[in-house]
Amino acid sequence: MKEKKMEKNRYYITTPIYYVNDVPHIGHSYTTIAADTLARYKRFIGDDLFFLTGTDEHGQKIQKTAQEKGVTPKELADSVVKNFKTLWEKLDISNDFFVRTTDDYHIKCVQEAFKRIYEKGDIYKGEYEGWYCVPCESYHSENDIGKNHICPDCGRAVELVKEESYFFKLSAYRDRLLEFYENNPDFVVPQTRYNEIKSFVKGGLRDLSITRTSFDWGIKVPFDKKHVVYVWFDALLNYISAIGYPFDEKFWQIWPADVHFVGKDILKFHAVYWPAFLMALDLPLPKHIVAHGWWTVDGKKMSKSLGNVVDPNEMIKKYPKDAYRYFLLRNVPFGLDGDFSEKELIGRINAELVNDLGNLLNRTLTMAEKYSNSIVEKPNNIQDDSLNKLSVETYKKIDADMNRFRFDEALSHIFEFIRAVNKYITVKEPWTLKKQNREQELKEVMYNVVSSLVYISGMLLAFMPDTAKEMWKQLGFTKNIDTYPLSFFLNFHSIDRIHIQKGDVLFEKIEADKKQKKDKKEEKISIDEFFNVDLRTAKILSAESVEKSKKLIKLKVDAGEEKPRTLVAGLKEYYKPEELVGKTIVIVANLKPAKLMGIESNGMLLAAKDGKSLGLLTVSDTDNIKPGSKIG
Ligand code: MSP
Repeated sequence: MKEKKMEKNRYYITTPIYYVNDVPHIGHSYTTIAADTLARYKRFIGDDLFFLTGTDEHGQKIQKTAQEKGVTPKELADSVVKNFKTLWEKLDISNDFFVRTTDDYHIKCVQEAFKRIYEKGDIYKGEYEGWYCVPCESYHSENDIGKNHICPDCGRAVELVKEESYFFKLSAYRDRLLEFYENNPDFVVPQTRYNEIKSFVKGGLRDLSITRTSFDWGIKVPFDKKHVVYVWFDALLNYISAIGYPFDEKFWQIWPADVHFVGKDILKFHAVYWPAFLMALDLPLPKHIVAHGWWTVDGKKMSKSLGNVVDPNEMIKKYPKDAYRYFLLRNVPFGLDGDFSEKELIGRINAELVNDLGNLLNRTLTMAEKYSNSIVEKPNNIQDDSLNKLSVETYKKIDADMNRFRFDEALSHIFEFIRAVNKYITVKEPWTLKKQNREQELKEVMYNVVSSLVYISGMLLAFMPDTAKEMWKQLGFTKNIDTYPLSFFLNFHSIDRIHIQKGDVLFEKIEADKKQKKDKKEEKISIDEFFNVDLRTAKILSAESVEKSKKLIKLKVDAGEEKPRTLVAGLKEYYKPEELVGKTIVIVANLKPAKLMGIESNGMLLAAKDGKSLGLLTVSDTDNIKPGSKIG
């Protein structure tokens, strides 16, 4: 086994490669922005960095989607790949390479790796009979799927597969994996996920089916063309194919990866299967698999059927791109689930980006213009070194946070520093110094504040590249910020004399209510979104008042189903229970059940409300509409 050459401090970061069955959403942008931020940070501190992203283009799911759209899988991939590439450009993603699993070098790599493991004896032919989830491209045991044959990960129906298959001897790697986890306690980050993986593997591993025969959109097994390679075996190898494995020596300068960023849903593939494949290939293992949580939107799971999938393109049309990057990384402790809400995004823009950061730059440069014709110079001797000291302390924290992948904490430390500089100005009152002609003191205060801004622009560069560059320009630098080493930013007294070039404010304040109302009004829903709500007629069979509740009435309704449904509704103030029986009302039939005063309600009835009056939506008996009829 060769070892990574260490003359240079190489650092290799990857994102998952994204399926091309759908356009990118906030979840994809999150992983990629996090990876990009770490990549930019590592470049900033002088590492020789390689940053990889790309697309996962084979498998049953892609083939199925292509069929539904009436295009070939490759045509589908080509068009969706463009969406990813354009979005990454818009979001300033600084990947060094973009891998596509339909690329030639990748196909050759997968075939060669398959052959090598087969020749070693760790792949054998057999027959797979069991359950498969196409959306997750994942196998499941009878125990996992329960009576209803539902995928334990995504909750969708699984399908029965029975076919000849090649298997990877995963079971044989159990002990080696456990030993590896034991010796590398930070292999999986965060710790809770590391524990989950360890206990999953302790529970025993079954051999893994790694080829399929029932469809053909995949990489062919080189010596048995009837089989295509299982999409996860294919996909995971992107991390080595993209850097030249097995035919290019350059591979050894980059491998092993330092960080594979993944979402928690695909951790098992990366922390169990992937190291086992690498062991089978006699390759060193990656240093860290860093798993982040999932985003919900306004508290709800993001899904097409709910119509609440957040499109990053829309977000960066509405808000500054750097604000979007900032919000995603700042709002959630990396590793935990998070909720996306525009209200919170606006809140952070106004409080942190406009007030704390933007204001600091603006007020400082305005003062520099006014007090010293935009020239800021180093004083002969500096009495107050407090901001310098604070910057050193702050950087220690930022670096530690970045090394534990806690982007939220790193940002919070940068913003604590920004607030400290604002406070410094408030306390020092440069305007008073000016009024009282205390020029030396004024010069020192302005120098300290401008030096702080130089430092801040460096610290923000990885997170908000455009903002850092704009600050840099306004501070009067002409050479690109990327060309300055970390040491320049850490030496608080780096600048001797600069000529400020004050420009526009960094961020504009956003009026939340106005914006959201305007957006809501402008937002039209599609007919498909309307039909996501299953409206049906239902006949009220019985109604009884819920004891102890001032508002609730419990209804049994016939919604055209086998059994009557129970509905609980706040009707007591408007109707007596007996007045309701016999009415044919309109209900939302596909609402998740909810418990009201301990009673499960399965649906919601529709009513119009006008001040204190309420009218149930009903269908007239004379219309002869059967209970359960669809409305729309
Ligand atoms: N193709 C595989 C990865 C193969 S890597 C060798 C795949 N692709 S994916 O497009 O479905 O998902 C890619 C990533 O997006 C995953 O890390 C997943 O966790 C992330 N997300 C998908 N939905 C998400 C949220 N709602 N929130 C956060 N991330 C989410 O899996």
